[in-house]
Amino acid sequence: MYSVGHSEERKDGVAKVRGTARYVDDMTFPGMLHARTIRSTIACGEVLAVRHALEEQGFTVVTARDIPGENVIALIADDQPCLADGVVRHAEEPLLIVAHPQRAALWQARVDVEYHARAPLLDAERSSTIFKEVQIDKGDPGRGFAAADVVVEGEYRTSWQEQLYIEPNGVIAVPENGGVTIHGSLQCPYYVHAALCRVLGLAGGKVRVVQAVTGGGFGGKEEYPSMIAAHAALAALKSGRPVKLVYDRMEDMAATTKRHPAVVRHRTGVTWDGRITAMDIDVLMDAGAYTTLSPVVISRGALHATGPYRCDHVHVRGRAVMTNTPPNGAFRGFGAPQTEFAAEAHMDRIAERLAIDPLTLRERNAWRPGDTTATGQTLGADCSALDVLCEAALRTDFQGKWRRNRGSGRGIGLSLFFHGAGFTGAGEERLASRAALELTAFGARIHVSSTELGQGAHTVLPQIVAETLRVPYEYIEIAPVDTAGVPDSGPTVASRTSMIVGGILQRCAEEMRDRLGSLSPEEYLELHGPLVITKEYERPPGSVWDEEHYRGDAYGTYTFGCNVVELEVDPVTYEARPRRLTAVLDFGKALNPALAKGQIEGGSVQGLGYALLEEVVHKEGRMANNQLANYAIPTTLDVPPLDVVILETPYRHGPFGAKGLVEAPIDGPAPAVINALRNAGYDLRSLPATPEKIMEARCGST
Ligand code: MOS
Repeated sequence: MYSVGHSEERKDGVAKVRGTARYVDDMTFPGMLHARTIRSTIACGEVLAVRHALEEQGFTVVTARDIPGENVIALIADDQPCLADGVVRHAEEPLLIVAHPQRAALWQARVDVEYHARAPLLDAERSSTIFKEVQIDKGDPGRGFAAADVVVEGEYRTSWQEQLYIEPNGVIAVPENGGVTIHGSLQCPYYVHAALCRVLGLAGGKVRVVQAVTGGGFGGKEEYPSMIAAHAALAALKSGRPVKLVYDRMEDMAATTKRHPAVVRHRTGVTWDGRITAMDIDVLMDAGAYTTLSPVVISRGALHATGPYRCDHVHVRGRAVMTNTPPNGAFRGFGAPQTEFAAEAHMDRIAERLAIDPLTLRERNAWRPGDTTATGQTLGADCSALDVLCEAALRTDFQGKWRRNRGSGRGIGLSLFFHGAGFTGAGEERLASRAALELTAFGARIHVSSTELGQGAHTVLPQIVAETLRVPYEYIEIAPVDTAGVPDSGPTVASRTSMIVGGILQRCAEEMRDRLGSLSPEEYLELHGPLVITKEYERPPGSVWDEEHYRGDAYGTYTFGCNVVELEVDPVTYEARPRRLTAVLDFGKALNPALAKGQIEGGSVQGLGYALLEEVVHKEGRMANNQLANYAIPTTLDVPPLDVVILETPYRHGPFGAKGLVEAPIDGPAPAVINALRNAGYDLRSLPATPEKIMEARCGST
């Protein structure tokens, strides 16, 4: 092979290591102003008056009245204003944008806001405003429960999680050509483009979005950059000058999106020999004050709620409801970490009830090729749930340790998980992503809107093209991500870039190879002139999706994983200390093994943080611990040895067999930790497993 399967040096690596990569905050433009957002300090109510003398002090001030288009951040439901206009629905809601040539002056800007505060709704379980409800029905749960020997019920809770990319959100808006150009730290340039056209009332050609080097996203730069870009653009258009708007860490943590908290209830029918006969699952997610991406988050959450298990009779109901907190949004895993946590914690409780071990229960029920999911999707030959399970159990001597540990203060826990790759249902067809490949004198240049966030997209996509063209990786370039120059290859989300965009590029490269025939690129260009091949996404043959009834092929395919966590509980402080995490992942093909391993390690550690450390504390709807000093994430000292194992069961519609990878690794660690705690003698049903909760969770019986 030329490039695929090799750990090629990442194309963005040298500039980042040498410090020459330019992030938004490194960039400056002549006459540039700095902007700051004035935010609501209450969670719910009306704005009665806003008083300031900022214009006299040389500030540009933008309010809802300065919006030339619609006061909306266009996404799914178009319910979120760009700037609050009289009504406040969550704390930190943007009210005004102020801009000044001196950054330091921003902190002197005094604005008095008079409110009529109302009691905020902060408890999702009391909310009657449903943004989105989904239902999945398979078979006849009544019959399934009638066939059960035992019914096991459980309720599982997860809380917020902050994406915590290294580089906070930020953009620069530059007035240009009667419109505006955005340079931003972002995942989805065309989302920002679409949102700006609406809010600014500009035609598409007047808005240009350029991705700056981006220091991580994890979903946190999926939808929120549209908001920041709109704010900066409004200030730029009003002042006629470039405007930089970069959040500091505290503002970023307090104001931007987080992972949705969830309450998941399971009722499961099982036979004494450990076969699942019926599942009834209810998923409630707290969306916060506006819809944002919640409809697709609850959808993915519901579609992953069963875990990767056979069952003929299933009912899943999912709801995302409104509360008066800052809107929750995309975060690596996109709803699945919450529901798979519940599914896997519940599996161990079922095993306990049946007095069988967690591995045997999973072996009995794990999907095999040919089985059907809750939506009736038939799993293909690439369904490797059992393979990852067996590999992880063997490597860790799971059963032996599980038996020896019980109640000892040491624990071992296992989780089996799956993750749908790409957009849900007909999403990829609706996106109709396009990618282009341009012949160069030595190789080719890729044109996509898919962004490099640190995950390696701009290394792996060239590898796919190099392999297909049979030229060295070094000869493949990637054009800057700029909506003025690249086609819309869709958002960089949903573990879709390698599989979906890579697949389109592979087809472009195949055609290029055919056109070249025996000619070298140089010869071809001399004889025939420039060659650019553009292709659009094509649905895998035979796949169907019924959006109304949630039936059919919810995803092109699924990535499978199994985690085993070994830990100890400190008998004095009740801290759970992971001693080893084993992560076995099968995502079809490791296009770049070093990058893949990095994604598995990173996602696993982020999952350990979700399990043990990361706790958002709210006071009256505002995040109270919006600092790294008291919102703890794992550091190197918290990370145990990681044993990463990659299996490669090819997916026949993925480039070189590849499926999606980057989200799956975060689905498994939290339930494996909770199950290890159960093995150690602590019965927890909620995240995070802080020492306080562990202390209270001693189960005398195990
Ligand atoms: Mo994502 S959480 O699909 O950026």
